[in-house]
Amino acid sequence: MSLARLPKVELHLHLEGAAPPAFIRGLAAEKGLDISHIFTPQGGYEYRDFLHFLDIYEAATSVLQSPEDFARLVEAVLAESAACGVIYSEAFLSPDFCGGRDLGAWREYVAAMREAAARAEATHGITLRGVITAIRHFGAEKARETALCAQESAGDFITGFGIAGDENAGELVDFAYAFDMAREAGLGLTAHAGEWRGPEEVRAALEHLRVSRIGHGVRAAEDPALVAELAARGTVLEICPGSNVTLGAYPSFAAHPIGPLREAGVAVTVSTDDPPFFHTDMVREYAALAEAFGWQEADFAALNRTAAAAAFCDEATRAKILKKLEKSHV
Ligand code: ADE
Ligand code: ZN
Repeated sequence: MSLARLPKVELHLHLEGAAPPAFIRGLAAEKGLDISHIFTPQGGYEYRDFLHFLDIYEAATSVLQSPEDFARLVEAVLAESAACGVIYSEAFLSPDFCGGRDLGAWREYVAAMREAAARAEATHGITLRGVITAIRHFGAEKARETALCAQESAGDFITGFGIAGDENAGELVDFAYAFDMAREAGLGLTAHAGEWRGPEEVRAALEHLRVSRIGHGVRAAEDPALVAELAARGTVLEICPGSNVTLGAYPSFAAHPIGPLREAGVAVTVSTDDPPFFHTDMVREYAALAEAFGWQEADFAALNRTAAAAAFCDEATRAKILKKLEKSHV
């Protein structure tokens, strides 16, 4: 079995968080910016814990300053994803980091990223869709401005809206208005919840934000009634096991709740979150899950069909992805 060549669908990838450290270091050198404090002596990203990770993430992102920089990033990231067999990817894009939520600037960033994605699709056969993402610790007012950017760019490339960042900052109900705006624009909805806070946070995402997908959502496993509800509703969890293990939410893959959640009938999918930060990629995730739970090619193929069904894309694109998944190898 070649897990490397299995065609894959990834639903949960932060564009800036997927930036290879060498790419960020190179951009910093081009611009004469000193961000040496974010790197280990070996050249990886250096951080202590989740909140420090968010700081380092934002420091790395600070060297991305133009639509052209983001276009280069899109091409670099999609090349790496395609090399792992990913045929369809959804990336979180944040207007906060692309011109500070200015509508005119945002339009230019989206145009550049969209063109870069088209080039990557022609070269590597990977399709990208963008999920506009509010940053929770930046607050609800900025999230509403982010939702305006989402309304402005909603279409066949920008297809979703979400929220990431520090889960302990504020309450999800404060972001309901921004999510209502995004829903009215026809965008698919997802929210990071139940990564650091417990089952109640997953319930809040369902109740107040009315999302069809949850980013992580793994702490739902602590509440059997909620697990049953997720299974009954068909809510899709975008699970990133390597991220959770590396950040210390769980001690190992074997102790990760993705196995029990799947057993309980919850629609689970697998993604990398911020791969270079967590020393992972889609092939490593699959290999670690195969070892921890004995999952085989057919299990991963089923997960990918679940992900394709939950993708925020038009039906013609979904049909194209499902067809590619039918072939067992890329
Ligand atoms: N932003 C990037 N990665 C994240 C994560 N794992 N949780 C919340 N926000 C993030
Ligand atoms: Zn995430």
